[in-house]
Amino acid sequence: SFNIMNTLKITLLMLYLYVLLPNIGKGWGCCPENWIASNTSCYFISFKLSNWTESEKNCAGVGAHLLVINTKEEQLLIYQKLDKRFAYYMGLSDPERTYQWQWVDQSPYDKSVTFWHPGEPSDNNEHCVFINSVKANWGWNNAPCHESQNSVCEMMKIYL
Ligand SMILES: *[C@@H]1O[C@H](CO)[C@@H](O)[C@H](O)[C@H]1NC(C)=O
Ligand SMILES: *[C@@H]1O[C@H](CO)[C@@H](O)[C@H](O)[C@H]1NC(C)=O
Repeated sequence: SFNIMNTLKITLLMLYLYVLLPNIGKGWGCCPENWIASNTSCYFISFKLSNWTESEKNCAGVGAHLLVINTKEEQLLIYQKLDKRFAYYMGLSDPERTYQWQWVDQSPYDKSVTFWHPGEPSDNNEHCVFINSVKANWGWNNAPCHESQNSVCEMMKIYL
């Protein structure tokens, strides 16, 4: 049994040195069960209808935040996972009600990486943003924050 234990220890050490260690920081992370993995993030599609604040709280409760879209690739990846019939809150809102959009994770709001539907955002006392499909095109729309919608949570991948 001494030999078996030693063999096991050596195998684990080799696994750590040659498989896990070189991959740290290279996108070799994992996501909780039932979450969708991208290169760097994990996403969870929630069908719990809630207003924007409550949706963000639900994400925070599992160590995540509402979806933050930083690239066109991320926008594409996400909408391919969504059902056209519904709208999904994301982590973009205008807490000061001055139409200065802010991401929940403090990512800078970059106008060149936004995917508003044509004619959006509108200035109709609508300070929270969801993603939905209009005429088969996915995009962003601002809506009153008290509306109940589905949502998408995002967190960083977990690295071993
Ligand atoms: C993941 O990384 C690959 C290679 O760097 C890149 O081409 C791809 O667009 C990335 N995917 C997302 C969703 O960012
Ligand atoms: C959001 O929903 C929660 C829980 O139902 C409620 O307490 C809160 O007042 C709502 N907030 C808004 C802005 O609708």
